[in-house]
Amino acid sequence: MTIRQAKIQDVKSIHLLVTEHAQKGELLPRPLSDLYEKVREFIVVEERGSIIACGALHVSWEDLAEVRTLIVSKNHQGKGIGAKIVNKLEKCAVKLGVKKVFALSFKPGFFKKIGYAEIKREILPHKVWRDCIKCPLFPDCGETALMKDIKHKTI
Ligand SMILES: CC(C)(COP(=O)(O)OP(=O)(O)OC[C@H]1O[C@@H](n2cnc3c(N)ncnc32)[C@H](O)[C@@H]1OP(=O)(O)O)[C@@H](O)C(=O)NCCC(=O)NCCS
Repeated sequence: MTIRQAKIQDVKSIHLLVTEHAQKGELLPRPLSDLYEKVREFIVVEERGSIIACGALHVSWEDLAEVRTLIVSKNHQGKGIGAKIVNKLEKCAVKLGVKKVFALSFKPGFFKKIGYAEIKREILPHKVWRDCIKCPLFPDCGETALMKDIKHKTI
């Protein structure tokens, strides 16, 4: 199992993961074009030539980034892969000088387990809201906002 930066050739596999889990209502759908544009934000987990998990770090504001599009395929869940991806994304955030990371998730239990605390969405910068307003599920998507302070995290 390898955890690495995504390449352009991984985008179709990432899109398949996103589409499959979005259909189950576990996260919001993302078009292929958006994933190509954002490929540099992604890390993937590869096992025997297949992409089995992904996650992305999106810088939102001067000291804030979002962990998004976190997916571990069904057969590989519960083995610590999700936590490993978030840890790697947090390290990327530290390297960039980001102090806090947040997530908007339908699975708050997972994020709480790995050190995130629930917050009021309203405290997120307006820019995040601008993205939310574009979403077809706004304002009742049901996602929980969670945040973690990473300023003391070591790389
Ligand atoms: C949520 C998800 C990413 C978790 O990944 P995972 O690899 O299964 O999780 P891990 O094995 O790394 O779990 C880490 C810890 O969180 C706990 N955990 C995992 N999912 C949880 C959940 N839904 N609720 C509460 N705790 C959870 C695990 O029990 C584990 O705790 P432990 O360290 O005490 O054993 C994965 O289930 C998934 O991809 N789900 C479908 C897509 C999705 O919902 N993504 C989140 C959208 S942001």
